[in-house]
Amino acid sequence: MAARSKEASAGAAIMSATRPPSVTDSVVVLDYGGQYSQLIARRVRECGVFSTLLPHHAGPENVAALDPRGLILSGGPASVYADGAPRLDPRLLELGIPVLGICYGMQLLARELGGRVDGAEVGEFGRSQLTVSSSGRLLAGTPSEQACWMSHRDTVFEPPPGFAALAASTSSPVAAFESLERGIYGIQFHPEVVHTPYGQQVLRNFLLDVCGCAGDWSARSVIDEQIDRIRTQVGDGRAICGLSGGVDSSVAALLVHRAIGEKLTCVFVDHGLMRKNEGEQVISAFRDHFHVPLVPVDAEARFLARLRGVTDPEEKRKRIGAEFIRVFEEEAAKLDDVRFLVQGTLYSDVIESGGGTGTATIKSHHNVGGLPEDLEFELVEPLRTLFKDEVRAVGAELGLPERLVWRQPFPGPGLAIRIVGGEATRERLDIVREADAILQDEIRKAGLYRDLWQSFCVLPDIRTVGVQGDQRTYGNVIVIRAVTSDDAMTADWARLPYDLLERIAGRMINEIRPVGRVVLDITSKPPGTIEWE
Ligand code: XMP
Repeated sequence: MAARSKEASAGAAIMSATRPPSVTDSVVVLDYGGQYSQLIARRVRECGVFSTLLPHHAGPENVAALDPRGLILSGGPASVYADGAPRLDPRLLELGIPVLGICYGMQLLARELGGRVDGAEVGEFGRSQLTVSSSGRLLAGTPSEQACWMSHRDTVFEPPPGFAALAASTSSPVAAFESLERGIYGIQFHPEVVHTPYGQQVLRNFLLDVCGCAGDWSARSVIDEQIDRIRTQVGDGRAICGLSGGVDSSVAALLVHRAIGEKLTCVFVDHGLMRKNEGEQVISAFRDHFHVPLVPVDAEARFLARLRGVTDPEEKRKRIGAEFIRVFEEEAAKLDDVRFLVQGTLYSDVIESGGGTGTATIKSHHNVGGLPEDLEFELVEPLRTLFKDEVRAVGAELGLPERLVWRQPFPGPGLAIRIVGGEATRERLDIVREADAILQDEIRKAGLYRDLWQSFCVLPDIRTVGVQGDQRTYGNVIVIRAVTSDDAMTADWARLPYDLLERIAGRMINEIRPVGRVVLDITSKPPGTIEWE
C-alpha cells in the first residue's frame, strides 16, 4: 500500500488531517495570514479545547464538517478594502455557532455586517491601553483599564447595527464588540500574545462561556485517545519505527508501544554523526527503561565511508539520506510481516505542507528520517494533530526522561553539516562532538538550555595561529552558535552571559587539544540561517 493517497480531495484531507475522531469540543481557527494564527490555535488548546487551523478559503462546508462549537477568524496583513484581500464568506455566519473575529477578523465582521471600518490616521502597533466601557460577555472578569497588544492600521469606527461596543483604545474607537443575539464577537487586540495579560481570560470567556466547550482536552486525553486510535488502525499487525533520538519520534514510538506493545519494533540507526552519548541515552531509555523491542544499528563506518572526500553540503545531505534509507530498509526486511510505519509528523508539519491538504505526510524536507514514498508501509502518525509543546507534554506524561522531552532540535544529517567546507572525518567529528558536549554541559549548568531553541558548535575547515605556553600553535576554530526562536523560521542570536562564554571557551581550548580559538556567531535569521551549511 502506498504511504499516502494523493487522490484525496482537499476537503476530505483537511478533515482527516486535522480532527481526532473522539474530540467532541473543537473550535476552528480560520487563518487569514496573520503571524499569530498558529499561536491562536495553541492558546485555544491551552484552554483545554481542541483547535483546528484551516486556511481562510476552506469554505463553510469544510468548517461544518468538523462540527466545531465555535469559529475564530484570525488576524491578517491585508486591509479589508484592498483588492484581492481575503473576504469573509457570509455563509460562515450561518453555521449556527458563535464567531470571534480577532484584528483583521473583527474588521471583516464589521464590514460584512454594516459597521464602519476605515484607515486610522496613525497605526497602532505594540503595547496599548484598553478602556472597557461595558465588559459584556466577552470581556467578563477583566478590569476596566488593561494593557493589550495591537498590530493594525485599519480600525473599526462604528460597530455594526445591533452590536454593543465594549471597549476602546487610544487609536481604536471600537476595540471590542459583541452581539449576544447573533453570537458574534470581535476584538481588535491580540489575546494570544503574552503582552495581553487578560487575553487568555477573553479566549476562555469565548470558548467556555459563549461556545459552551467543556475545556477538558489535555495531554492525558490525547494519550487515551491515540492509544484507541492506533489499536483500531493497526489491529494485530506489526509496526516499525525509526528512532532518531528527538522528541517527536520518541513520543510517537512510546504511544504506539503503549497501544500494541511487543508488536512494535524500533530501529535506531547510529550514523556516527550524533552528539556525545546521545545514542546511549536513546538505547537505555527505550530498551532498558521502557522495554521497547529495539534494534540498534551501529552504522558509523558505513556512513563515514559514504562521506569520504565529500565537502559540498547538499551532497553530504543526499548521501546521508540515501544511506539512512538503505540501512533502514535492510533492517525492516529482517522483520516479518511489518505493515505499518510509525512517523513523528507534527501538526505544524501538516500545516506547513499545505494546511492538511494531504500534500506531504512524510517529513521529506528533512531528509534523514524522511523515508521514500514507495515504501510498502501504511503510516501511523499519532502526533499529527499536536504542536511541539503538546508533544512534550505527552512525552512527560508518558514518563519520557526529561532530557529526551526537552531535547533541542537536531538536524537529521547531524554533526556532518557542522563541519563546514570540509569532509566529515572521524577526527573532525570528534572535535566538534567534544566541543558541543562542553557547550551543552555549561549551558545546562547555567540553566539556559530550555531558553534556547538550539545551541551547537561549528567547525570550519580553517586553522588559525595561536600561542600556548611558549609554543606557536596552528589550531582549529570552534564557532559557538546559540539562538532563540519559536519555530526556526526566524531566529535571534542568544545573548549568552560573558562569563558563561568565557568558561565555555576556556574549557574548549584546555580540554580539546586541536582547538586553538573560539568565536561567537552573532547573526540572526534572516539574514543568516541557523545552521552554517
Ligand atoms: P536553517 O539552517 O535552515 O535551519 O535555519 C532551520 C532548522 O532546520 C534544521 N535543519 C535540518 N534538519 N535536516 C534536518 O533534519 C537538515 O538537513 C537540516 N538542515 C537544517 C536546523 O537545525 C534548524 O532547526
